[in-house]
Amino acid sequence: MEELKVFCPATIANVSCGFDVLGLALDSVGDEMIVRKTSKKGIRITKIIGQDLPLETKNNVAGVAGLALLEKSGYDGGFEIVIDKRIKPGSGIGSSAASSAGAVWAMNEFLGRPFSKLELVQFAMQGEKLASDVAHADNVAPAIFGGFTLVRSYEPLDIIPIPTPSELYATVIHPQIEIKTSDSRKILRTTISMQQGIQQWGNLGGLIAGLFQNDYELIGRSLHDHIVEPIRSILIPAFDNIKTNAVKAGALGSGISGSGPSIFALSKGEEIATRVADSMKETYKNIGVDFDIHISKVNSEGVKKID
Ligand code: HSE
Repeated sequence: MEELKVFCPATIANVSCGFDVLGLALDSVGDEMIVRKTSKKGIRITKIIGQDLPLETKNNVAGVAGLALLEKSGYDGGFEIVIDKRIKPGSGIGSSAASSAGAVWAMNEFLGRPFSKLELVQFAMQGEKLASDVAHADNVAPAIFGGFTLVRSYEPLDIIPIPTPSELYATVIHPQIEIKTSDSRKILRTTISMQQGIQQWGNLGGLIAGLFQNDYELIGRSLHDHIVEPIRSILIPAFDNIKTNAVKAGALGSGISGSGPSIFALSKGEEIATRVADSMKETYKNIGVDFDIHISKVNSEGVKKID
């Protein structure tokens, strides 16, 4: 194996009621990465296509995540990485997570898979720490495991893969502004009221139950965030209109993707997801906001080898 080319999926973290603990991987949007094993020690990011990001290993999320794996592996050589960055940084769909997850997944393949997926998540979390000051796992876990994942606990790290109903589709619109995760975390309060807690864990439990039971109605009823969304949504153009119109167009529910500014909606079936996309597009076109939009199934594999 001379080199490995991988697809690194974009992810939706939080999924409304699961701040820092819930995420899902997307199928139709992600980065590509080429990883080569070398006899030269260390990690070198040799090229980044599409975005202006640091090449220095210690300043690059893929480099930092890769170094964490390399140190634990005992392998005496190194790796070279080329990143074709298709997910815009600061978009809210797990740009840094895709690079971190892709690097450690590919390196693990080269070394004969000495590490479990859980360990790969731990390495990739070092990239998240560099990107956002916090080693959150709700993007890297679905990027590595695929599907929906729940971070039941951070210490010790405990990741629970959650099944995905087969007709579930995500629509994601990205207004063309950049919001750094570190900035959008700074504006959050550090405490919540008992009332907010009760609403949030009721919904999170409902969403998980809905995913297990293929109960689309229950998934829709549970897609609410009473804690983070009211604060972060003020940074996102026409958030309330996009969300209201998405639900009117048939979405089960809608909310902020990760730390924003992307907005996601979940729908039953591709036809409704496409109608939801049309409503989102129209809302932004009417007020002159530029955007990217994606319609995607949930990716069940996570990072994968491509030709
Ligand atoms: N849970 C993280 C946050 C995800 O919302 O800050 C960032 O993509």
